[in-house]
Amino acid sequence: MPLIALDSIEDGGFAEVEALVGGDAESLIVHRVGANARAWLNVCPHAGRRLDWAPGKFLKSKEGHLVCAAHGASFELERGDCVAGPCRGDSLRSVAVEVRDGEVVLGAPPL
Ligand code: FES
Repeated sequence: MPLIALDSIEDGGFAEVEALVGGDAESLIVHRVGANARAWLNVCPHAGRRLDWAPGKFLKSKEGHLVCAAHGASFELERGDCVAGPCRGDSLRSVAVEVRDGEVVLGAPPL
């Protein structure tokens, strides 16, 4: 099932979608990188809060990091690692996605 059309996300930007992951309804952060997308659970490893300040509204720092709206943890966008803030060294939980026919869909989980 498509999560979202890739074109509806600004290149380098983010969207929030709901999806069933492992049988549970989860909020996901989808990040567009050109013709590709990455996704993580929308759960901050610091205190378990959502990272968006309003549904689908995410903060991006001047350095290009995703910033948690709750207490300012910063995450790089290759692997979702926290590089500054209260959970430095932790990571967002990545969710496998791929782009098919212009739609972001859940991909096969890594083995
Ligand atoms: S919950 Fe994200 S920085 Fe605290």
